[in-house]
Amino acid sequence: MGIQVDIQNTAIIGMQWGDEGKGKIVDRYSGDFNYIVRFQGGANAGHTVVVNDETFVFHLLPSGVLNPGTVNVIGNGVAVDLAQLCTEIDGIADAAGSLENRLWISDRASVVLPYHKERDRQSESGEEKIGTTLRGIGPLYSDKVGRKSFRVCDLLDSDSCREKIERLCRMNNRLLTEVYGAEPVDVEAVVDEIMALRAQVMPYICDTVELLCNGLKEGKSMLFEGAQGSMLDIDFGTYPYVTSSNTTAGGITNGCGVAASEVKNIIGVTKAYTTRVGEGPMPTECTDETGEMLRDKGGEYGATTGRPRRCGWFDAVQVSYAASINGTSTLALTKLDVLDAFDEIKVCIGYSVEDRIYRTFPADTAVCSRCVPEYKVFRGWNSSTENVSDFSSLPDKAREYIEGLEEILGVTFPLISTGQSREAVIFRDKGE
Ligand code: IMP
Repeated sequence: MGIQVDIQNTAIIGMQWGDEGKGKIVDRYSGDFNYIVRFQGGANAGHTVVVNDETFVFHLLPSGVLNPGTVNVIGNGVAVDLAQLCTEIDGIADAAGSLENRLWISDRASVVLPYHKERDRQSESGEEKIGTTLRGIGPLYSDKVGRKSFRVCDLLDSDSCREKIERLCRMNNRLLTEVYGAEPVDVEAVVDEIMALRAQVMPYICDTVELLCNGLKEGKSMLFEGAQGSMLDIDFGTYPYVTSSNTTAGGITNGCGVAASEVKNIIGVTKAYTTRVGEGPMPTECTDETGEMLRDKGGEYGATTGRPRRCGWFDAVQVSYAASINGTSTLALTKLDVLDAFDEIKVCIGYSVEDRIYRTFPADTAVCSRCVPEYKVFRGWNSSTENVSDFSSLPDKAREYIEGLEEILGVTFPLISTGQSREAVIFRDKGE
């Protein structure tokens, strides 16, 4: 049983601040779909997939690449870092075999160039830093909206490609030197680097809008793989401490050209507790020993930057908000086993800010950072749930916790992940 994936066209979206374990869920289901599609974000993402005890971390490749028989698409909404992409393609050659006709990159996607990363570094060196991954994401999307992007289709003609990169580098060098007082990028070196990478990615470039639309006409099924989490969405997250794309299901249409009406099933993925990396408010953050225990047991260090993640209790106000803006049809719960060694486990069911009570997530970051969580307390189970794959084999108190969350959120969790490996999953039968 478990999650109903037989409905065509499913999205998998993070319900928190990213790192919810989406990669594992995508990998688990990707074999059931014809196309696996990334539609936003870039190399700031880090999707970890463990297969046969081997760990793979994908930043740009869709997490379906290890499932032969899937076609993997990098949509127009993705910030494409060519060097990172080529490293990943090379890195999975043994495990995935040839990606010819199995990987496609949108000719409409924008390309991250070295000056984007330098601008990211410069803006992060000031007082108002966001705590970004330094992958050039904010500057890239700013350029895209400002209509100054270098796009994948610009790679196709080698002469105009070279000329466009030179022009953009010179323009950005003025910004770097005159506004930031930083070193300029070496224009010739950037051109040479991109021209070399161009040769490697050329076989994968196509009009992915046409590819996906034809796929839809032929009745092919699609899995849309979200990156980051809903609270990092540029519109709905904890602005300005967000990423620069729409991480919620609303980003799918703009990010790959598949109409919203085609996305039939939206699976939200949430950890059994909360983490966040970077700056910005996180109402249930535990800066004490509880936070450390969660970090240690959960291996909560960024897959992209290695930074320790901030950890805290499950925030039902925040997850309900995320579920409603995404229109999730179902939720998957991950990393239950991380809670194995706690005497008590808390769940936030409301916030108070001075004399006002909030039951939904406030827009104002200053208000969010003053939120005092109201907790419901559950009894810990103090025994191992690691790799349990049967709901009835869970300790009673672990089932109480899961059912308690379900009651608070008004959902059921048909899929519960209890460890890193592909097999460490509970699929629940109806009524269990
Ligand atoms: P950027 O996306 O690199 O600009 O970073 C903006 C914010 O999003 C920072 O707080 C990052 O830590 C966070 N962020 C970006 N990508 C991820 C991710 O994949 N997981 C978790 N946090 C992320």
